Amino acid sequence: MDNKILHSVTAIFHTPDDIIKAAKAVVKAGYKKFDVHTPYPVHGMDQAMKLKRSPLGYFAFALGVIGATLGLLLMYWTMTVDYPLNIGGKPTFPLPAFVPVTFEITVLLASVATVVSMIVIFFKFPNNSHPLHDTEYMKQVSSDKYGLTIEAADPNFDFEKVKDFLSKIGGTNVEAIYYDNDEINSKLTLLEPKFLTGLAVISVLVITITYFSLNKLMFMQPFNWMMDQQKITAMKVSTFFDDGFSMRLPVEGTVARGFKPYPYPDSVELASRVLVNPLEFSDVNLENGKRKYNTFCSPCHDYHGNGVARLNGQFPNPPSLHTDKVREWSDGHLYHIITVGQNTMPSYDKQLTQEEKWQVILYVRALQRALNAQEGDLQ
Ligand code: HEC
Repeated sequence: MDNKILHSVTAIFHTPDDIIKAAKAVVKAGYKKFDVHTPYPVHGMDQAMKLKRSPLGYFAFALGVIGATLGLLLMYWTMTVDYPLNIGGKPTFPLPAFVPVTFEITVLLASVATVVSMIVIFFKFPNNSHPLHDTEYMKQVSSDKYGLTIEAADPNFDFEKVKDFLSKIGGTNVEAIYYDNDEINSKLTLLEPKFLTGLAVISVLVITITYFSLNKLMFMQPFNWMMDQQKITAMKVSTFFDDGFSMRLPVEGTVARGFKPYPYPDSVELASRVLVNPLEFSDVNLENGKRKYNTFCSPCHDYHGNGVARLNGQFPNPPSLHTDKVREWSDGHLYHIITVGQNTMPSYDKQLTQEEKWQVILYVRALQRALNAQEGDLQ
């Protein structure tokens, strides 16, 4: 008992009027460090205690102003500088339209500032102990009694005098409150290892739980997601069709738009006599012909058609496209080969439209011409 440090002297009052009168008396007697505890807010108490205005408003105001500024700057930067949008010819910094967002950010920062500064500055968080906690006095004033404490830190404090004074103004249960030993020894501050450990444990817990619920739990039965629906993707093996392919061939006899069925599949002679290239040597045709040739023909015929496959060893080398024979074949003959294939060369009917086939043929002709230029070409 002896080595304990006195915190305050408490007294209990029984009606709201009593406590108001007591507060006025305490102020009159000149005590500064005192406090009143009531189970509910008692009107007129602030005046009775002669409390000054709380400085909390300044924190709210400062952060509110910062919020408004940041909000406006954000919208100014995004809508006026970085990505100005012309909406019906209106200005890119229309103040009325920016009011709602500015208002929201102002209110947000101001209220967060109020709560945080109240907890950290006034309540000295994370220190959450107080000598009045766990006392009979606190139990009574949080239920149906009204209490008043005069703190030992008050300059006018004198233990015996204060006790007498409190009884004289009508206080009952006058009691001395001491600091607990462990309250003095373990002053929790922000850097206290206990606090930091707690913080770390809570962070890890929150991270783990969030990770688990968002990345695992949500993907377990019975939750399901659109990406897990029954569907077939192009290159995946299908267990639905006997042949195991996901992509299906067109139904037998189907004629796709833009593809006319090839009328001479069995007759090169007919094709080479009847078919005429409808296209002319234009930049567009040659350019596209080159593109298609490089994509579909060059793996075997090389970029220049000289009979050495680029896929070395994977496919037998085709004959050169620069032989007299091929040069003298009509365009229709080449069209026939591209369409139905020739011996080991497969058909390229599915890969190329009719127009593209003719463009490829123009490009092959250009290649042949390039390797066999005549004097007349220079003119
Ligand atoms: C997969 C490899 C391969 C691809 C791709 C390929 N060819 Fe062939 N091509 C060959 C082979 C091999 C031959 C020789 C076939 C034979 O034995 O008659 C050949 C023959 C030819 C011939 C006849 C040559 C001759 O002397 O008989 C022409 C013309 C021809 N291809 C044009 C093309 C065109 C145009 C393309 C692109 C649409 C193309 N080829 C794509 C492998 C291919």
